[in-house]
Amino acid sequence: MVKKNPYNLPRSGIPQFVGRETALEKLHIQLQESERIAISTLTGMGGIGKTELALQYALTDRDKTLEDCSYKSGICWVNVADQGNVGTQILNFAQNYLKISILEEGELEDRVKHCWQNWGEEDTLIIFDDVRQYKQIKDFLPLQQKRFKVIRVC
Ligand SMILES: Nc1ncnc2c1ncn2[C@@H]1O[C@H](COP(=O)(O)OP(=O)(O)OP(=O)(O)O)[C@@H](O)[C@H]1O
Ligand SMILES: [Mg+2]
Repeated sequence: MVKKNPYNLPRSGIPQFVGRETALEKLHIQLQESERIAISTLTGMGGIGKTELALQYALTDRDKTLEDCSYKSGICWVNVADQGNVGTQILNFAQNYLKISILEEGELEDRVKHCWQNWGEEDTLIIFDDVRQYKQIKDFLPLQQKRFKVIRVC
């Protein structure tokens, strides 16, 4: 069976990802253990491999079978610093990948909230890459529910 989970991951530029098994496991455990929304933050110096770690974590789940994968309601990658329009990126994912009817009018925050309310019911992973300031994502975070798992890459 072809797996049809929605995901919009960028391509990795490296042929082989090595030596981060512990970091990958730790990230997974952190994301699974929360009873409410789980937000894991990856910080560190520029170029140390934060974005790649988040991406490899997502790719690993994408490449599992539907039975074995953790994020059955998809993985949404939001590129915060490069594109800025965080809310619009979420709306686009919801519309194009999840086929959610997005609200045409209203404040962006409310239109994004409407998407979260209509998101798939299983676990979903949202990755905010390159967040410089918390206020860039604050108004667009998912609902306070266990099924939403967030990685914030700073
Ligand atoms: N474990 C790894 N094995 C091989 N290459 C890696 C690994 N981790 C990261 N890289 C490569 O190193 C480079 C820098 O990694 P990355 O872009 O993830 O850093 P970053 O911490 O997100 O940096 P920035 O803070 O500038 O966003 C990338 O080309 C990435 O593909
Ligand atoms: Mg990065």
